[in-house]
Amino acid sequence: MLGREIGRVAAERGIAAVGWSRETCDLTDADLVARSFAAGEPEVVIHGAAWTDVDGCESDPARAFLENGRATANVAAACRATGARLITVSTDYVFSGDAPTPYRETDRPGPLSVYGWSKLMAEEATLALGERGAVARTAWVYAEHGRNFLLTMLRLAAERERLGVVDDQHGTPTYAGDLATALLELAAGEPSGIYHVTNDGATTWNGFARAIFEETGNSTAVDAVTSDAFPRPARRPANSVLARTRSDGPRLAPWREALVRCLARRASAEAA
Ligand SMILES: NC(=O)c1ccc[n+]([C@@H]2O[C@H](COP(=O)([O-])OP(=O)(O)OC[C@H]3O[C@@H](n4cnc5c(N)ncnc54)[C@H](OP(=O)(O)O)[C@@H]3O)[C@@H](O)[C@H]2O)c1
Repeated sequence: MLGREIGRVAAERGIAAVGWSRETCDLTDADLVARSFAAGEPEVVIHGAAWTDVDGCESDPARAFLENGRATANVAAACRATGARLITVSTDYVFSGDAPTPYRETDRPGPLSVYGWSKLMAEEATLALGERGAVARTAWVYAEHGRNFLLTMLRLAAERERLGVVDDQHGTPTYAGDLATALLELAAGEPSGIYHVTNDGATTWNGFARAIFEETGNSTAVDAVTSDAFPRPARRPANSVLARTRSDGPRLAPWREALVRCLARRASAEAA
């Protein structure tokens, strides 16, 4: 989902970017990664690849640590060898969600899930690069394509008149198009350390669902339920809100404004 948006925004801005996928370079293969980097000679690498199935990771930790942790260590090693800068995309799920206020870049992580731990391993491998390594933590990413909450809500609304959506997890819906733009802005500078990169503001999944239905003129009723109503293998943080305290990081639009833009893009793609 994010990779596709990075490709789109890079093309719109005339940035020379090459997109890699599992088919062109499986990041768990250290030799292949090293050879590919030596041949491609990237100046900057935006590493958004991950096994993003949070519940899947919980039941297969070995695969999670391989695809999220080890793979990132392979990428970092290839960056070190070729001198490329690395920006690794990470997640709000590195935090426990116990804090009463938004998480700052400097706050201590404490993942609740295997996915969160495996992404923390990816962060550590990236930060070990020193001034040439940067981590961009984001949250609740959606787009008009891919697998995400926005498209799930629109699909369910077409099937049901009433939905229960959790109202006890707080975070910031982040449009992949805005995130891609922010990552390319970061890539144009000399980023290092940890950045929090989400759209501005915060809501709950319930609030996000209501906003989606309001903006699309959908009459489906949205009931507030607690996370206990949807038991899942991996625990999610109750507070996923990421504070942006660094002045040198990208600033993104308010989340609802971004949602409106994403829906407009979806509508024009459907009309075309
Ligand atoms: N979506 C969210 O809400 C969210 C929130 C916070 C952070 N993030 C982070 O943002 C990044 C992008 O997320 P996304 O939602 O765009 O993910 P996505 O749609 O699931 O895309 C991840 C991509 O990584 C690829 N990949 C996985 N393992 C690979 C490997 N070993 N070698 C090469 N490619 C591999 C996947 O290929 P296959 O399809 O072949 O597996 C897939 O194309 C991830 O790092 C994720 O952890 C996402």
